[in-house]
Amino acid sequence: MALQIVSVVAGEELPSGTPYESVNPARPAQTVATVLLAGADDFAGACRAASAAQREWARVPAPVRGRVIASIGRLVEANTEALARLVTEEIGKPYAEALGEVREIVDTCDFFLGEGRRLYGQTVPSEMPDKSLFTFRVPVGVAAVVTAGNFPVAVPSWYLVPALLCGNAVVWKPAEYAAASAHALYRLFAAAGLPDGVLNLVFADGDQTYAGLDRALGEGTVQKVGFTGSSAVGRAVGELCGRHLQSPCLELGGKNPMVVMPDADLDLAAEGALFSGFGTAGQRCTSLGTVIVHEDVHDEFLRRFTEAVRDAKVGDPNGDVLYGPLLDHKFAERYEEYLGWIQPHHTVLPGPVGRMDGDGLYYHPVVVDGVRPGDRLFLEETFGPIVGVTTFSTLDEAIDLANRPGYGLSSSIYTTDPKAVFRFREGVSAGMVSVNNSTSGAEAHLPFGGNGKSGNGSRQSGMWVLDQFTRWQAMNWDYSGRLQKAQMDVTEITPDLGFRL
Ligand code: UN1
Repeated sequence: MALQIVSVVAGEELPSGTPYESVNPARPAQTVATVLLAGADDFAGACRAASAAQREWARVPAPVRGRVIASIGRLVEANTEALARLVTEEIGKPYAEALGEVREIVDTCDFFLGEGRRLYGQTVPSEMPDKSLFTFRVPVGVAAVVTAGNFPVAVPSWYLVPALLCGNAVVWKPAEYAAASAHALYRLFAAAGLPDGVLNLVFADGDQTYAGLDRALGEGTVQKVGFTGSSAVGRAVGELCGRHLQSPCLELGGKNPMVVMPDADLDLAAEGALFSGFGTAGQRCTSLGTVIVHEDVHDEFLRRFTEAVRDAKVGDPNGDVLYGPLLDHKFAERYEEYLGWIQPHHTVLPGPVGRMDGDGLYYHPVVVDGVRPGDRLFLEETFGPIVGVTTFSTLDEAIDLANRPGYGLSSSIYTTDPKAVFRFREGVSAGMVSVNNSTSGAEAHLPFGGNGKSGNGSRQSGMWVLDQFTRWQAMNWDYSGRLQKAQMDVTEITPDLGFRL
């Protein structure tokens, strides 16, 4: 029996909307949930409800908000298997990876529950006597958060947890094809005791969300937008926010390079390429795009890599597989377009290309050797199980190739030479650099985010995300009883600048 789910605003369910079916991509005939999609008015209404609830929530002491985050972490942990099973069923993520995804939420809660007792401001010396200076972190207000479905619960938690901890209210619009997972996560957050209206869940399609957001920004009920998704939609969201003098937190696509130096451990590099290229069926924003391998080790690396790909198991995500089906029909269709970018000058390995037999949205893993810097396959994100391979002769050339597509999310280098590591780190445009490790699998307490087409420089996770969900307020307090003018009434101590030894 499929679940029936609806949006929840100020603790109330929205009873009407356009039906949408979230299906199991391993068995597309099975509907996981029927969800009613709301309209732009509902979205704007949710932002008004969030705005009305936010002040009271901001008045709850931060350590108490931290305790709520602690409860969310405990609830998620106690429901790990159920949530992971739902993620596997709804988007086809292998169960072991789904467990890791749920772990990432718990890690995020563990980090931020303590932040409730920090959320430090500063006391700063004044240039005048009997005057003190202070800084405070102030919540931004309402955060509208729009997330993708490839990490249907972990990536949303990267926004929701710090936003709530900092005293903001949230309107969350998850991907509709991951609606059941999102709804389950919402229920766990609600069970932790969040007051009505502090977290609101709105299911809507892209156009209605954009229109609702436009309206809410105009009404002044949204002060921060968080968006994870494609570079194209991120650009539109960024433009919209810019018109309202806001800078959103954007986490967009990637064409993540892996450089394999001639001194690399080739087995380790092949293993890393296998995991980051094909884990989650290549549908992470941190997935490997192109292997940039030194010409001297190209043949040997390619042999080991394609052998590992050939041996990998693709299939039922409940089993022990490298990856399962693609997320949803929409993604499968787009992936088939990317396969059309393969050209005669490419060598396709290890075997068949395209959809596997059967109903599930399963696709063969593809390695494309001989990609060139002008190829679409080299330049654009190809969300799916496909990895390009190209060669280089000098490290400078490898860095140039790594940066050429203009994204800048994640990157990786395999080498045993520390000089090469630091030169690569300095030269690569990516926000994240792995050394002898794959491009994916960032830990939940380091800054996560990208540059160029991968984002606008915003960072999520760890203490760095606090700057997304708070604003600095500076306060000065003069207790001298007179007007002391800054820069003018400052005591001077006269030096003898002509003094010489
Ligand atoms: C994403 O695909 O949007 O670093 C996030 C990783 C994961 C998160 C990916 N921890 O691969």
